[in-house]
Amino acid sequence: MLERAKELLEETIAFVSKDAQQIEEFRIKILGSKGELKKLFAEFRNVPAEQKKEFGLVLNDLREKAEAKIAELKAEIANSEGNTSQKREDYTRPTNLNELGSRHPISLVKNEIIEIFKRIGFSVSEGPEIEDDWHNFSALNFPPEHPARDMQDTFFVEKDPDIALRTHTSSVQVRVMENSNPPIRTISPGRVYRNEAISARAHCFFHQVEGLYIDKGVSFADLKQTLLFFAQEMFGKETKIRLRPSYFPFTEPSAEMDVSCSICSGKGCNVCKYTGYLEILGCGMVDPNVLENCGIDSKVYTGFAFGMGVERITQLKYNVNDLRLYSENDKEFLDQFKGSF
Ligand code: PHE
Repeated sequence: MLERAKELLEETIAFVSKDAQQIEEFRIKILGSKGELKKLFAEFRNVPAEQKKEFGLVLNDLREKAEAKIAELKAEIANSEGNTSQKREDYTRPTNLNELGSRHPISLVKNEIIEIFKRIGFSVSEGPEIEDDWHNFSALNFPPEHPARDMQDTFFVEKDPDIALRTHTSSVQVRVMENSNPPIRTISPGRVYRNEAISARAHCFFHQVEGLYIDKGVSFADLKQTLLFFAQEMFGKETKIRLRPSYFPFTEPSAEMDVSCSICSGKGCNVCKYTGYLEILGCGMVDPNVLENCGIDSKVYTGFAFGMGVERITQLKYNVNDLRLYSENDKEFLDQFKGSF
């Protein structure tokens, strides 16, 4: 008898179910009016006197445990039902998370360039991507035989009068000079087009930020100081710059600017081709002819201009060695810039 009672106690402790019917069957089996507990109590008088006490304790324990277990399992069922109905109505629960996008590296670097020049008082000006000959070439002192005026180098939309996709954002600066009076301090970010075969090192479109500063007494020293400030903000305080004489139709004198290689700190590596320097932009003093073309008195005002390719700066900052990556929409490439703003 005692053995049977202990067995049932163990069974009760081990019993689990989420099914209301099974729980009720279990209740009837143990606690029902014809259940096991009743039967065992009926046997009480047949139990040897020395076992009576223990037997009584086990039976009481069995009743308590069975009642508690059944109450517990029923409560669990009620709870989980409550939860599911709550879930349906809880509008504060988070939905599926949207995947976070990323800014394009060209936008990141373009914005950084704009921020740097904004800090020293440059405004931002924009203009049309389809330009007439005057704003893209003639006002900027391009001679009639200049190769950029050729179909080989420029995408023409119309000939006579010539309308083309702008080849640089200097065209925006012409518009600013025509429409405002000095002092002028502005940068022109934007997309430009050139008729090039697409490869790792050249593309038929890219992005520029060009700058223009016109006032009384602006000198080459101002140009150099402004560009040094830019280079050190962009590539780090220890960056050095180097200006090499060059030629552009719209500036005189003209120069190309190199920055010390940020990869080898100027010691020489395969990125800077062991020169320690990397070319990043063209610049110069605005040619007096250009000022006059745009209605600015070149005897009173002088100015400097510069222009850089955003892809080139991005290449140096993020070590991207193939220009085509920027326009292929490769998700793995773009994902690398997640979280940058
Ligand atoms: N417009 C030139 C280019 O597209 C860059 C430049 C701008 C050079 C201003 C000198 C001064 O290459």
